[in-house]
Amino acid sequence: MAKPIMTSDLLIFAFLLIIFFTSSSSAIPVTFNVADLGARPDGTTDSTQAFLGAWARACSSTLAATIYVPLGRFLLRNVVFDGKGCKNNNIVVCIDGTLVAPTNYNVIGKVKHWLSFEHVDGVSVLGGVLDGQGTGLWTCKRAGNKGCPNGATSLGFSNSNNVVINGVTSLNSQLYHIDIDSCNNVKIQGVKVTASGDSPNTDGIHVQSDGVTILNSIIATGDDCISIGPGTTNLWIENVVCGPGHGKELQEPGVENVTVISPSFRGTENGLRIKSWGRSSNGFARNIVFQHALMIDVENPIVIDQNYCPGNDNCPSQASGVQISDVTYQDIHGTSASEVAVKFDCSSKHPCSGITVEDVKLTYKNQQAESSCRNALGSVSGLVQPALSCL
Ligand SMILES: *[C@@H]1O[C@H](CO)[C@@H](O)[C@H](O)[C@H]1NC(C)=O
Repeated sequence: MAKPIMTSDLLIFAFLLIIFFTSSSSAIPVTFNVADLGARPDGTTDSTQAFLGAWARACSSTLAATIYVPLGRFLLRNVVFDGKGCKNNNIVVCIDGTLVAPTNYNVIGKVKHWLSFEHVDGVSVLGGVLDGQGTGLWTCKRAGNKGCPNGATSLGFSNSNNVVINGVTSLNSQLYHIDIDSCNNVKIQGVKVTASGDSPNTDGIHVQSDGVTILNSIIATGDDCISIGPGTTNLWIENVVCGPGHGKELQEPGVENVTVISPSFRGTENGLRIKSWGRSSNGFARNIVFQHALMIDVENPIVIDQNYCPGNDNCPSQASGVQISDVTYQDIHGTSASEVAVKFDCSSKHPCSGITVEDVKLTYKNQQAESSCRNALGSVSGLVQPALSCL
């Protein structure tokens, strides 16, 4: 009795296998391994052409395509992955290895982005390490040498839609690590950014786009953790750890609908900062929510600074024209490294309005911290320490 049952079971098994293979074969993406196209994992051979070759092949395929980068170190010059004329809207760049910038910072130091995706639709970058080799350029800049190039941002997406960056590690960028400029629908997840705390202008992620989500990422750098540029709308940031560095900041006018949930800051200069230059402008920053934040030894945990004028250059005692409204701070806890933990320094021309502060407890050296406000209107609820009687 046992034998026929077993045979029929096996037959069913074999049949399922056939179904599995036939049904999934059409979904298996075509794969272009850069190593098959001449890339060398030795860290010294220029592999730029092989990557461009893989990109051209992926783009001319109408099937989902994977560009695969195996283990090893692949040297790349500045490269543009151009989506103009690309037929494919499902390209995955799957990286097991490390992409390495040239040691000589002058090779890529004058371009905007080292690895640049432009006009692409439906591109995902998964895994891998991007090593920007920026330390030489930082040394040049710190020495005050006028001949230093500005530096390249390591990974840039511009004028692109439906982008995913998942599990990517960015090390020692020359300038910013990741730049999302004029894009729509971008999801950044599980990213790790590392550069030393004294590296100049190495912002973690710069966003100037619509519909960007940044989740579960760790950013330790020399400048802003996440900086938000003009025209940014519908940005969602959740569970991002910052520090060291300058903190998170909304930099410039024209920013709307920003939600920051569960960020933590450790030893950063700023926590949640909104700044605008003390000069005329018709910009705005509105509908901003900061929720469930943890601060550990943060110099300025909560700041609105509308009199930002480094070096008093180009903006001597001018009132900012930027209108800041509807900003909510909810459940913000931890320690301040300076006496003033909450500072709202708004424009005399356009006072901040609709500032809502709820359940805030920030201490300084185990004592109550202080707050200060100028030209700020809003309301306080729940337990708020330091007290904000000035709102
Ligand atoms: C901001 O969010 C509101 C409410 O969800 C929405 O109506 C509005 O269109 C958003 N603004 C922009 C510029 O997308």
